[in-house]
Amino acid sequence: MSRTRRKVKRIMADLVCHQRVWDPHVEEKYDVREKIGEGSFGDVYVGYRKSDRKRFAIKMTDSRYDSYVPGYPEELPKEVALMTILRDSPCRFLIKLQEWFLVKEEKSPYGTTIKSIVMVIEHPGLCRTLAEFLKEHPHLERRDARTLIQQIVKAAQACTRKEICHFDIHDHNILVISPPLHIKLIDFGCGLHISHDPENHPQPDTVISPVRAEKRTVNQLVTIVQDIARHCSSIPTGFMEFIAACWSPQYVVEEIQHTVDEILDQPWLRN
Ligand SMILES: Nc1ncnc2c1ncn2[C@@H]1O[C@H](COP(=O)(O)OP(=O)(O)O)[C@@H](O)[C@H]1O
Ligand SMILES: [Mg+2]
Repeated sequence: MSRTRRKVKRIMADLVCHQRVWDPHVEEKYDVREKIGEGSFGDVYVGYRKSDRKRFAIKMTDSRYDSYVPGYPEELPKEVALMTILRDSPCRFLIKLQEWFLVKEEKSPYGTTIKSIVMVIEHPGLCRTLAEFLKEHPHLERRDARTLIQQIVKAAQACTRKEICHFDIHDHNILVISPPLHIKLIDFGCGLHISHDPENHPQPDTVISPVRAEKRTVNQLVTIVQDIARHCSSIPTGFMEFIAACWSPQYVVEEIQHTVDEILDQPWLRN
């Protein structure tokens, strides 16, 4: 059996034997209400902080890897670590982590440690995913398409500047707050640290090389821009031709066509 298949089998087995539970500390501090999202690794609820009734998204998930945060004495569950690093980013298009709770820690029969965690995340108010937003807006104005694209690319750039690859940028992991038209990139569950020597890293499953990170990010941005362009026929042809030329096929491992910065530097997007 290949290494990847063994790894997938182990993760699936871990999932089956693992039960999620709530932490009493979360419920002491937050009124947890209806479920607003469900994914392969997490359930997301809306919750109100009891002290001031402020609304948050409460994400309950399992974590298999810990990773580092510069300046922190101990490693944190990877998604928490990545969001902690991004809290310092000046970019307003990244969702912010408020606090987190470790609920349970257990060893699986395969020897891996699984941590159940609850993350309390900023809730931007009236919002929907980009997928829902595009369904509701079959015909976008050119100005709105530009705003969405520019903000999404800036969010991806802000991650890379903090040496983080989001790795999973797609229309369900982007929230659109409208009005005003404003996006937030969410879900760092698949994110990785960018490392210049990933092969010799003590935790190779938590890191990615700079070239692979850039390629993955650019390819995901290409898909999103092309999705948005299906809802707006007046995006300049020159821009769309550039976007098509950004795509790197899977087999071109250590080479990239264009960078995230180059997308933002296109005349149509430049401020
Ligand atoms: N901060 C948030 N504010 C509002 N809705 C959110 C927030 N975070 C997640 N959601 C909703 O929950 C869904 C799943 O959240 P996500 O973090 O993507 O979990 P998963 O890791 O399971 O994909 C999202 O697609 C979105 O609809
Ligand atoms: Mg998601």
